[in-house]
Amino acid sequence: MRTYLVTGGAGFIGSNYIHYMFRKYDNEIRIINVDKLTYAGNLENLKDIEGRENYTFVKADITDKEAIRKVFAENDIDRVVHFAAESHVDRSIKEPEVFVNTNVMGTCVMLNCAKEAWELPDGSFKEGKKFLHVSTDEVYGSLPDDGTSYFYETTPYCPHSPYSASKASSDFLVKAYIDTYHFPANITNCSNNYGPYQFPEKLIPLIINNALNGKALPVYGDGMNIRDWLYVDDHAKGIDMVQENGKLGETYNIGGHNERRNIQIIKTILETLQELLPDSDPRKANVSEDLITYVADRKGHDKRYAIAPDKIRKEVGWEPETTFEVGIKKTIKWYLEHQEWMERCISGDYQKYYEDMYKNR
Ligand code: NAD
Ligand code: DAU
Repeated sequence: MRTYLVTGGAGFIGSNYIHYMFRKYDNEIRIINVDKLTYAGNLENLKDIEGRENYTFVKADITDKEAIRKVFAENDIDRVVHFAAESHVDRSIKEPEVFVNTNVMGTCVMLNCAKEAWELPDGSFKEGKKFLHVSTDEVYGSLPDDGTSYFYETTPYCPHSPYSASKASSDFLVKAYIDTYHFPANITNCSNNYGPYQFPEKLIPLIINNALNGKALPVYGDGMNIRDWLYVDDHAKGIDMVQENGKLGETYNIGGHNERRNIQIIKTILETLQELLPDSDPRKANVSEDLITYVADRKGHDKRYAIAPDKIRKEVGWEPETTFEVGIKKTIKWYLEHQEWMERCISGDYQKYYEDMYKNR
């Protein structure tokens, strides 16, 4: 039975990945989820997994060397899937240090502890051990709004925000371990994910929640920035396929060839809410384009991201399965059916975050 150490498994993508892996492998694998439970970590995302004998949660900080070393010492880990990170660009603009600490130092600790546990006296590594570092397309910087240029694995790194700079640094650390020690790792750089369990600081769940509550829908700048959206289950599948079928040491870009302008996303959400909400639901009257409010742009706002997923298609056989039309409907339905989950997310600290982030925009 393969044992996985998943970091950041209580977050958005990590929890969807854990669900995906148990759906796919059931009792053939064991997962240990290491998460610090920051504001973005939510054990409610894994409620239905909790009782499983082949699942363990460990509350720990990835920058805590002793805690991570202990997890490796007590378990024969076969796979590391490293999601844990500070992930929100706007927060990184306000508070860069925490991003450097978690994303750079935390990744270094994860690499070191895995190396220590897996390395043999001759400097080679135990058979079959693999580390996958989950990264982002934001490390490549920004593309022109031309609809023809793409991010490839060979595109030079050019991060702009403190978040993407910290992720780029962490990618370089993984590359350094691969080059220096022949450490058995892969890096995946993925585009914008959407789906269930995404914290409502990010565009899609924020717009859904604000629209349902009749609150202003904040559009940064002119709303014409482009992101390449991927349904989160497709990302989870891509990670698993890279880890099992990819070539060790390689980087793979994961993206859905699904570019949308932010304003299009917002209008699609409004239309879908109108379609899904029954007339008897009082929230339906709130859902209107009148809520769209153009606000000050994000500092250093990257114009366009777009992944060319050619390498992962050719070498690993991965392709996205969920069209945006299907994925966004599934996502909005999920949020409508999990209003209590949302209420708990937006109680307490979230209100203060929202006021601070949006008050001067
Ligand atoms: P998220 O913010 O929803 O979740 C992050 C998780 O990491 C949380 O559970 C949090 O508690 C945990 N965490 C944070 N700091 C920690 C620490 N010091 N020690 C242990 N756990 C800690 O993030 P997400 O959107 O699920 O992103 C997961 C990963 O995927 C990140 O590495 C991110 O850079 C990458 N990524 C995200 C996207 C996206 O669209 N969301 C796209 C590409 C890549
Ligand atoms: O590209 C991958 C990245 O996608 C990941 O690495 C990040 O972890 C993830 O957060 C995401 O980054 P973005 O900055 O693209 O996502 P966000 O949801 O914050 O914003 C999407 C777009 O919407 C972006 O152009 C900014 C804009 N936006 C965002 C918010 C929160 C708004 O116009 N208004 C908003 O209120």
